[in-house]
Amino acid sequence: MSEQVIVLGVSGGIAAYKAAALTSMLKKKGYEIHVIMTRNATEFVSPLTFETLSGNRVSVDTFDRNFEYNVQHISLAKKADLFVVAPATANVIAKFAHGIADDMLSTTFLASRCPKLICPAMNTGMLENPATQENIETLRRRGMQFLDAESGLLACGDSGKGRLAEPEEIADLVEEMLSPKPLAGLRVLVTAGPTRESMDPVRFLSNHSTGKMGYALARQARNFGAQVTLVSGRVSLAPVRGVKMVQVLSAADMAKAVEDAFAEQDITIKAAAVADYTFAVTSEKKKKKKDGDLTLSLQRTEDILKTLGSRVRPDQVLCGFAMETQNLLENARKKLESKNADMIVANSLREKGAGFGTDTNLVTLLTRDGSEPLELMEKEEVAQVILMRCLAILKKKRGN
Ligand code: CTP
Repeated sequence: MSEQVIVLGVSGGIAAYKAAALTSMLKKKGYEIHVIMTRNATEFVSPLTFETLSGNRVSVDTFDRNFEYNVQHISLAKKADLFVVAPATANVIAKFAHGIADDMLSTTFLASRCPKLICPAMNTGMLENPATQENIETLRRRGMQFLDAESGLLACGDSGKGRLAEPEEIADLVEEMLSPKPLAGLRVLVTAGPTRESMDPVRFLSNHSTGKMGYALARQARNFGAQVTLVSGRVSLAPVRGVKMVQVLSAADMAKAVEDAFAEQDITIKAAAVADYTFAVTSEKKKKKKDGDLTLSLQRTEDILKTLGSRVRPDQVLCGFAMETQNLLENARKKLESKNADMIVANSLREKGAGFGTDTNLVTLLTRDGSEPLELMEKEEVAQVILMRCLAILKKKRGN
């Protein structure tokens, strides 16, 4: 696939510095970025910053004589797959709403036909002014997407709504907007993170899962257009925007949340590291060390994947994970059979770059038809492959 092209419009506000971080993030994700700045924006950040980060010439003025004679604004407008304006001041929003084209940013914006994302940033009073609100409404009605400003302390000293959304959030929405939608119309359930089994009000039994793989699956399923439910144990990751988040603590909580939602899912992926054991008795009072040595009795939790495997319908896909320290493929294949899953994602804790807490993973996908080892990839990419394989199985099971 050729690189997707993003035109990033930067208008004049202190938040322009955040657009530099955004440029760098989007570039790292592999997009081609062309930045257009308003004259006022150049007072806050130098075009050189954006040129260095994007690797492309920054456009400021329509009549810049250094440009080739190809009517720069029209060529950028034609090239763009997505037009992002961040930060968008009250002034540029007003121009966009009224079709005013008097500089490089506003002329290119008016000429472009691609999807548009506008991220406002301004003083609270300006944002709440009916003029600005009506302009935003007008643009929304015309199909433009907005990422609302956040509340907080503003550069002008006021506290209120008007702060530019964080670059991570803008980049996340950009990815979603530019992603193909092969899962449109489907429901996907993902479980993620560890479970916690309480011993007393202070201590618990858990594992090293950070939830990264499950969160990547939920995010990518959302990007692919699915309606996503993410059942998550306690992790330190930010919730995934645009998915239904269900927070749980113990294996029993997770079992209930998953089993309640399972019937309506098309694809269910169990990436959570569920505790296999819980305490036979949870003490209501804190255990005191004066009681001396302690022997704790553990009992088995429900195997959620197995329960789902006994209920899975021919029009549903069920995918589990297998985390092993030895005989990876043999054990994973046994899990495929014993849990009646359609696919098992096998990962070894022994491999470098795989397993808990890493941003990458090294997995083999096991199905009834065979096994597919994937190379070492970012968890986000692994998630995309898993989802596409699940979709292929779903189509096969449904005969289309
Ligand atoms: N799983 C589950 N419920 C449990 C334990 C595991 O649903 N109580 C799911 C996990 O979410 C994962 C798959 O089963 O998708 C395999 O988990 P794993 O810990 O690798 O294996 P176990 O089933 O626990 O088997 P073993 O202890 O033999 O490794």
